[in-house]
Amino acid sequence: MAETTTVIRPYRETDHAAVYDVCVRTADAGGDARGKYHSDDLMPDLFAGPYVFLEPEFAFVLDDGQRAVGYVIGTPDTAAFARAYRERWIPRLAGRYPVPPDPPANAEEEMLALHHRPERLVWPGLEEYPAHLHIDLLPPFQGAGHGRALMETFYAAAAQAGAPGVHVTVTTANTRALGFYHRLGFRRLEVAPLEITGPGETTVTYLGRAL
Ligand SMILES: CC(C)(COP(=O)(O)OP(=O)(O)OC[C@H]1O[C@@H](n2cnc3c(N)ncnc32)[C@H](O)[C@@H]1OP(=O)(O)O)[C@@H](O)C(=O)NCCC(=O)NCCS
Repeated sequence: MAETTTVIRPYRETDHAAVYDVCVRTADAGGDARGKYHSDDLMPDLFAGPYVFLEPEFAFVLDDGQRAVGYVIGTPDTAAFARAYRERWIPRLAGRYPVPPDPPANAEEEMLALHHRPERLVWPGLEEYPAHLHIDLLPPFQGAGHGRALMETFYAAAAQAGAPGVHVTVTTANTRALGFYHRLGFRRLEVAPLEITGPGETTVTYLGRAL
């Protein structure tokens, strides 16, 4: 546990590189994904960049006095976010990521398939849990209550925006995160699994919580 004074504050554009850094260092089922894909920006370009670009008012960072060492990012309205991802985020990346073959042949192509199908974010029953979020902390800042505090910050912002509930999708292998969400009152949702059928067979669990 890092012994520094930390604060939670709204995201600023100057946090962008730190947020990308936290994202890639926690993107392999909670562990370090650096070197796993052809670019270390791939995971942040899917799971961090679109949130801070499209929904900056729902982005909060944990600042240790030097930099952002953790964040919670998300949207109160997943269906609107999925549309904005297609209309404004995919064009912004200007062809950096090609459309992969169908079905994808490896882990990288699975991620590219997710990027090119933001409509996957919308599923039957979403109306009850229309908000969703991603939360990540650098390892020295995990296990000290910051995760709970960041979640509560997001709940307040999403509830203020009118969302009745929030959901998360967790890589099923990330047992630590599953334990964390259960502790915070999230319960498993029966959602048809993503039909991304590459060899990576990344399965995700959907969890929801009323706000
Ligand atoms: C998952 C993560 C966000 C949790 O944040 P954290 O700061 O470590 O968690 P906290 O210390 O705030 O824990 C909050 C509560 O959950 C409990 N908890 C945490 N992990 C738990 C686990 N695996 N099982 C059961 N309870 C757990 C804590 O004991 C604490 O309980 P309390 O507040 O009632 O005392 C953080 O560990 C992390 O960033 N991990 C790597 C990235 C990641 O996996 N992100 C999620 C991707 S879906």
